[in-house]
Amino acid sequence: MTHETDDPVGDASMPRPVVASKRLYMRAFGCQMNVYDSERMGEQMSDLGYAETDDMADADLIVLNTCHIREKAAEKVYSELGRIRQIKSQREAQGKETVVTVAGCVAQAEGAEIVRRAPAVDLVVGPQSYHRLPELVHRTRLESRAIVDTSFPEESKFEKLPERSASRAGNRDLPRAATAFVTVQEGCDKFCTFCVVPYTRGAELSRPVARIADELKRLVSLGVREVTLLGQNVNGYHGEGPDGRAWTLAMLIRHLAQVAGIERLRYTTSHPRDMTEDLLAVHRDEPKLMPYLHLPFQAGADRILAAMNRKHTAADYLRLIERIRSARPDIALSTDIIVGFPGETEAEFKATLDLVEDVQFAQAYSFKYSARPGTPASTMDGQLDEAVKAERLQRLQDLLDRQQRSFNASCVGKTFPVLFEKTGRREGQLIGRSPYLQSVHAEAQSALLGRIIPVEIMAAGPNSLSGAVRAA
Ligand code: 5AD
Ligand code: SF4
Repeated sequence: MTHETDDPVGDASMPRPVVASKRLYMRAFGCQMNVYDSERMGEQMSDLGYAETDDMADADLIVLNTCHIREKAAEKVYSELGRIRQIKSQREAQGKETVVTVAGCVAQAEGAEIVRRAPAVDLVVGPQSYHRLPELVHRTRLESRAIVDTSFPEESKFEKLPERSASRAGNRDLPRAATAFVTVQEGCDKFCTFCVVPYTRGAELSRPVARIADELKRLVSLGVREVTLLGQNVNGYHGEGPDGRAWTLAMLIRHLAQVAGIERLRYTTSHPRDMTEDLLAVHRDEPKLMPYLHLPFQAGADRILAAMNRKHTAADYLRLIERIRSARPDIALSTDIIVGFPGETEAEFKATLDLVEDVQFAQAYSFKYSARPGTPASTMDGQLDEAVKAERLQRLQDLLDRQQRSFNASCVGKTFPVLFEKTGRREGQLIGRSPYLQSVHAEAQSALLGRIIPVEIMAAGPNSLSGAVRAA
């Protein structure tokens, strides 16, 4: 049995911090926002004495932070829950309790259905109510039935989450990490006909500028040098500024770039309709904003774009790319593309290939269309065979791979400022990021971790570059 809750629970039911150390296993599926949300959940639980573990069998609390964007992503959760059921019963035999939690977009979309399909689940919590995780976990111990909280509460989770700090980062990399994500905007009002996001993440909400700046400053004090601003429709950002007016993403970026110690800013994901002139101007004249833009176009044929409710044509997209390149000529472009949308003909698919040829991407993500329950496209006529979609995807990916290789190859001989983020697999090697978001491997002392160092690129692979550290 399950029940849904949307009642805020008062302080009396709040668990008190415990000293005894418990273990939390957290796994994020899907997008970068899930990585961010997972970190924030981990931080809350660390206040209650939970340290993170990579070993599920050792975990008192298991959280799967799930993705619903395509069928494959959602199905992964159920196969993982099968494995968890076994671990939970093995632990039970040893007298150990395990609280199994499904969070994220599958939780939001499927709610109590998850518990029916996977009775080992104790708690289902949606992306807008995970600030209640501590109290919900506590309640699973008091109640014999599973708890489902998929509400969109009045209070914003951002206002309720504890501040970020080194002590809360547990055994994760946060205190040492040079890069971090910060959610600035969430939800989407665009309603592309294939997409579940407007239903799972809800309506667009922008965090106030001051709160974002505070979070950024805290991260910088923990050693972070590069922050990626996250939002499902991030360039639709319209949060409250310090002057009480709604600020654009461009204004937010200019403001954050002033924070001492922050060296690089990025943002993702944008919609072509919201690439405003002021944002292009920031690309032109704010050196801390990295020359990389992820700008999905989804399909190259105007009829398909209209059926997707994208509200732009292929020509609009091309014109926009031209304007972006004239603002920032070296910008590296990335995109998302769907093949096999209902009714897509071979000629329409070719229009997608043509658009890719015209733009020349540094990097891209491409997917077979996946019918998602509740979305308008899922009931459209002309759903295509898997084999047709697979064959189109292969052709598209061959082209995208060639473009990525050629972009990487064009970097050989250049010297890039590289932010070193982590140690490589080989002794004495560090891995960092170029301004264009490529992974760069170089022989370097670990003292250079967290620093931006000139690296001359010597070789290019399909997915990364390697180079040699040059004196600054
Ligand atoms: N099928 C395939 N791909 C999808 N995406 C979103 N919904 C679907 C779907 N139903 C892709 C889009 C989006 C990216 C995050 O995932 O390309 O930009
Ligand atoms: Fe989904 Fe992006 Fe379209 Fe919003 S703009 S509905 S998140 S694909």
